[in-house]
Amino acid sequence: MAIRPIVLYPDPVLLRATEPVETVDDDTRELVEDMVETMYEAPGIGLAANQVGVGKRVCIVDLSAGEEQGMLCVFVNPKIVATEGIEAGEEGCLSFPDVTLVVKRALKVTVEALDVEGEPFTMETEGLMARALLHECEHLDGYTFLRNVSDLKKALIKKQIKKRIKAGTWVATE
Ligand code: NI
Repeated sequence: MAIRPIVLYPDPVLLRATEPVETVDDDTRELVEDMVETMYEAPGIGLAANQVGVGKRVCIVDLSAGEEQGMLCVFVNPKIVATEGIEAGEEGCLSFPDVTLVVKRALKVTVEALDVEGEPFTMETEGLMARALLHECEHLDGYTFLRNVSDLKKALIKKQIKKRIKAGTWVATE
């Protein structure tokens, strides 16, 4: 296992839709292991493969950020098949260090995905888990949580990021 560098916005890999995994194999499992290690190290509660520079449709969520056993969820080729309700909530993102946005998302989601053995499963979930999953799927679709805020807010955040890039303080969590 290895910790991989986290890609920061506006790296193009974050702005391109990822490709579905054709065969869940050892390479996929190695990617997942590295993603888990990288996310726990950050620490964060969710990570998409393109956040470590890999354009594959794979994401992970662990609401305990590795603090509790059995909380890790791995999604290969996740597809949101149903949503219900709407709720606003605060979100952060490992590709946007120290940026917090209030984002409206579905309250409940149903997702279909493959596990690390390539077995299909369906999960119905709500609240923070649903939010995290939707945030990660948004990454995999080639978007970031910025797309959910007003144009004004977006412009403001982009300006702040530009300033931080110039100042050399736009750096991934160590
Ligand atoms: Ni994110």
